[in-house]
Parts: sequence; C-alpha cells; structure tokens
Amino acid sequence: MYRKTYVEIDEEQLKKNTEEIVHKYPDYKYYFGVVKNNAYHHGIRVVNSLIEGGVNYLAVSSLEEAIEIRRYNCTIPILVLEPIDLDFLDDAMNNHITLTIDNLKYLSFLNELKLPYQVNIHLKIDSGMNRLGFKTHKDIKTAMRIISENKMLYLEGIYSHFATSGIQDEYYDRQVDTFLELMKDIHLEDIPIVHLDRSLTFVTHEKLSFVNGVRLGIALYGFNGSRNIKNGLKNRLREMKRKIYVKRHHISPTILENNLHLQTAFKMYSTVMSLRSVKKGEFVGYNASYKMKEDGYVATIPVGYADGVTKNFGYVAIRNKRYPIISDSMDMIMVLVDKTIKYKDKVEIFGDTISVREVANRLGVNAYHLFNQISTRVVRIHKTKDEELEIKY
Ligand SMILES: Cc1ncc(COP(=O)(O)O)c(C=O)c1O
Repeated sequence: MYRKTYVEIDEEQLKKNTEEIVHKYPDYKYYFGVVKNNAYHHGIRVVNSLIEGGVNYLAVSSLEEAIEIRRYNCTIPILVLEPIDLDFLDDAMNNHITLTIDNLKYLSFLNELKLPYQVNIHLKIDSGMNRLGFKTHKDIKTAMRIISENKMLYLEGIYSHFATSGIQDEYYDRQVDTFLELMKDIHLEDIPIVHLDRSLTFVTHEKLSFVNGVRLGIALYGFNGSRNIKNGLKNRLREMKRKIYVKRHHISPTILENNLHLQTAFKMYSTVMSLRSVKKGEFVGYNASYKMKEDGYVATIPVGYADGVTKNFGYVAIRNKRYPIISDSMDMIMVLVDKTIKYKDKVEIFGDTISVREVANRLGVNAYHLFNQISTRVVRIHKTKDEELEIKY
C-alpha cells in the first residue's frame, strides 16, 4: 500500500458475530449469510469466516457474485436472490447455484428447456413488498404442479421478504398473514427450506413456527437491532408513543432489546500527510469555504469523496481524540488539529472512537449505505487469526 488510506476488515469478528447469532438463536436449521455487494463491501473472501461461524447457505444478488464466491468456496450452497437470465443457466449449474423463481412465465421458460441437469430452486413469494415474487395462490399452485411434474426441477425452498421491521407498524403482521393465505393448502413442512426473516425482523420477533431458515445480512456485520428504550427522556417518550400505537393497531409483540453481542468489523483509517499552521482570518479549501476563527493547525489527510468520505462525516479521531473536518475535495480532507498532531499520525475515519453508527446518523443514512459508500479505491486489509492480507479491488 503506497497511499495510507485503508479499510480494516476483522474477519475473526465476523466469525464471532456469526457464532453469537447461531448460539443465541439455535432453533433454525438454515442460516443464510447475505453476502451480496461484496459482502456489504467487506470483501467476498469473508464468506469463509462466516461459514466457520455457522452460516450454512449464502445469498447474493447476481450470478456474477455467486460465481465469484466459488473462488473461495466450492461447496457452500448459494442462492441468487434475483431471477437470473436463463441464457446463462449452464454457468449457474456448473457452479451449483440455486435459482430464485419469481413468476410463472419465468418458470414456464425454464420448464420448456431440455434440462441435462437437475435445477435447484426456491420460489419467491410476494407477501407485500411488490418487488419480486408470486402474488396469487393460483399461480403458486400452478408453479407447484409444474415443478412436481418435471423431474429436473427440485423445489428446495420457498421464501419471502419483509418490507418493514414491524416494530411500530402493522405491515409485518400483514405480510405474515398474506404469506400464510398464499400458502393455504400447500404443505410447507414438505418443503425443505422456508425462510422469511431478515436481520431486524429476526431479532425483533419470535420465531415464526413454519420457518426453518433466516437470511442474515447486517446482523452478521455487527448490528444487533437493539433499541435503547430505557435510556434518555427522548427514547422513553418515543417508546410510550410506540406502545400506544401498537395497542391501538393490535400489532404482534416485538422484542426491542436483545443480548446479542455483535461488533462491527469494518474500520477505516488514513494518515496525516501534511501539516500547516494557519492564521486567524485565512481561508481553507475550495471556495475558500472555511475561515479560521483563530490561529491554528490544519492537517491534510489523503482521503476524499472519491473514497466515499466527505466533510459531512464531521470528525476524524487521532490518538482517540476527535478533530473536526473543515474542508473536503475528491482526494483529500482538511482537519482542524492542535499542535500535538504529527506528520504520519494514524487517523481514524471511523472505528473504535467514532462508530459506524455515529457517522451514519450524522449523514442521515444507515450502516448499509455507509459501508457501500466507501469506494473500492480504498485498499482493504483483512485481518485473520493468522495473517494480515492486503487486497486492492
Ligand atoms: C431478499 C433479501 N433477504 C435478506 C436480506 C438481508 O437483509 P439484512 O441486511 O437487513 O439482514 C436482504 C438485504 O437487502 C435481501 O434483499
């Protein structure tokens, strides 16, 4: 690494997060690790840490992502969550990939092919998200018949996706009801894998009796979905309001606090590249947008919006102390520091002093967006038990 701006991925922590979830929620048979978008930008090689921790199925968005995983693991089953272009079915089958079937027309195309291999499929049910999936009982029945009559199609799973957390809305309950209504007179117990929940719905609701799988994304990457309902007046007021709403709308019980000990494994660092003293009244950065209020010191850090870091991040931390970002540009930010700061000091963009959650909140986004925002220009250092590996995408 020449330019000292990097993301540190703690693979041991990802393994620990997975172990913790599997240990505390042992009543599932299938723990899907959702590793789309390069494992939420953690780097696809982390799949093996997740598998060591207990994930026994993976889920991705595209065939490209699925095939990329095969470079790291040849055996783990992989579900592509979007219907793939059937022109590339051979590639999918050669790599033992499970397909999502989301509508009857698509299934009919597949059914008409002279398949030289058995195709493993999961039916996607649209219980209210209106993104992908079967919407009517009639279509689902027809799909089940087509599959049962074609020996080359194997119905391994059935699944749906929740649009909301269901913490303070009735939509989660409505989706569960819709799913069950669509499944009436279908023997779910005969389908090997039934999976509905994602991280937040999983930790905030009792296990649905008819599922045996769960798709975990953000929880694996360190977010337990707990709400701080007891601390602070604002939180207590919010919780009172929520309780009234829940009662009025007969929303099923939710679990707002859990004892899942998860930690993020994605930290970002840079270094002090240049230092200057700047006099009161001088301007800093493009558009002369920051005017020094008094004599002081400005550190220039080699990280900018091309890396996903902007002035809106608010602060960086140097030796555990916060310093405000006063200007940004494509490749550099400027930080107001003090005279203790030295050339080549390590700079935390987020990590132990400034958390992912804090930065995400300040940006008005969630952790998914923040991980995604850190560009692949930034070198990744993967830390495992035995080694540190530098990866440039
Ligand atoms: C279909 C599907 N299942 C599961 C997940 C995982 O969600 P989460 O990261 O909230 O656990 C996603 C993520 O977007 C998804 O699209």
